[in-house]
Amino acid sequence: MKEKHPFAPYVVFSSVIAALGAFLFGYHTAIISGAILFITEEFGLTFFQQEFLISSTLIGCVIGALSGGISDYFGRKRTLIYDAFIYLIATFLLFDAQSYGMLITGRIVVGFAIGIASVTVPLYIAEIAPAESRGRLVSLNQLLITIGILVSFWVAYIYAAQENWRTMFSFAMIPALVQLFCLLFISETPAWLLSKGKSKQAEKALHRLKMASPKAHLTPQEKKQNQPMRKKFKALLSPEVRAPVLIGIGISIFQQITGINTVIYYAPRVFQYAGFQSEESAILATVWVGVVNVVMTIVGLWLVDRIGRRPLVLIGVAGMTVCLAVLASSFMFEAKVGVLSVVAILAYIGFFAPGLGIVTWLIISEIYPLGIRGRAMSVATFFNWGANYVVSLTFLTLIQLLTIGGTYWLFTLICIGCFIFIWKKVPETKGKTFEQIQAFWQK
Ligand code: BGC
Repeated sequence: MKEKHPFAPYVVFSSVIAALGAFLFGYHTAIISGAILFITEEFGLTFFQQEFLISSTLIGCVIGALSGGISDYFGRKRTLIYDAFIYLIATFLLFDAQSYGMLITGRIVVGFAIGIASVTVPLYIAEIAPAESRGRLVSLNQLLITIGILVSFWVAYIYAAQENWRTMFSFAMIPALVQLFCLLFISETPAWLLSKGKSKQAEKALHRLKMASPKAHLTPQEKKQNQPMRKKFKALLSPEVRAPVLIGIGISIFQQITGINTVIYYAPRVFQYAGFQSEESAILATVWVGVVNVVMTIVGLWLVDRIGRRPLVLIGVAGMTVCLAVLASSFMFEAKVGVLSVVAILAYIGFFAPGLGIVTWLIISEIYPLGIRGRAMSVATFFNWGANYVVSLTFLTLIQLLTIGGTYWLFTLICIGCFIFIWKKVPETKGKTFEQIQAFWQK
């Protein structure tokens, strides 16, 4: 019988605590869609002010993602602790906001925290996980993002009756406080400690995490690569790392320009285009988006170390392409309430979640050499948020220019491009140690 490799409960504990940063990522990105209605009433916001309030978070995310590379200097654990603090400060600013300026500040600061979390959480988990189950453990990142989104829909729904937007924001204090407290008990990653020459502490960490051998996590080659690259982002341009750096950027951009957040951020509006009359029914349909997202992420989590990253993401993108084509046609040809469009939207989410949802974050935590890992992830994540910003900002204009059907035809074409890119460029990393992945690039 094939031997199974169980992972230590402490590894699961540490991964879940780190992934609370991803929960807050999901929660804060989505809660605004519920809160904005009541904020608009209270502060009398114009359309432009609303749009800026929503997009200001993405500006914070872009800056935060670029700052995520600080974990190469401060360590992964310390960066997570700083980040939990920033989440708390931002939440307090939002809860207590007395003016539009304070709201904007709060949303930019929360975006900054999200940006840092989106780099550091998958990176941290990848470095403490055993190779055989790294896929599942890193996917906790995506699972908690989706749970965060779902919980935010639910909290918004509950507090909408009281028009209580402050509580919608402040709910996020609970997970942030729990995370901050529990972070004190998690271990720094052995790989980072070794890269800083702290071998005694690394030994201890390896022991606590029940990891087999430091060799698997830091090869002599990696140690060498680590030295001259320590200082600058410029190191990412050197020819030895060019391929993984470009692949990371490519998949991150494709994750966004295939249209996911036109559904996550604008779902009620898209459902209204699909023929839902009342806001209530459109919002209820949105809750289903959240549910499918979580359920299919769990399916992906179960599959990712079994069938591998490539099959999962290729099937996912192929499925998304078909759904987008169906959605685009249904907007063009269906007269009234589009059952077909609703099914297409839900199926699209169902293919995104285990595919581009899980695999993007996983791949960018796995493919880089240790010496540049933090910075390379940070750059890929910067492009992820940048592309997200561009899509979110242009979506409504695109609808005006191309109609909603035409816009989704555009996303269909981009999805085909994404499939070809992944097919040709993204390597399989299932079950491979970081050492083996590096050996692949050297070839
Ligand atoms: C993406 C987010 C998206 C979320 C939806 C994440 O992987 O980066 O932009 O909103 O998935 O579940």
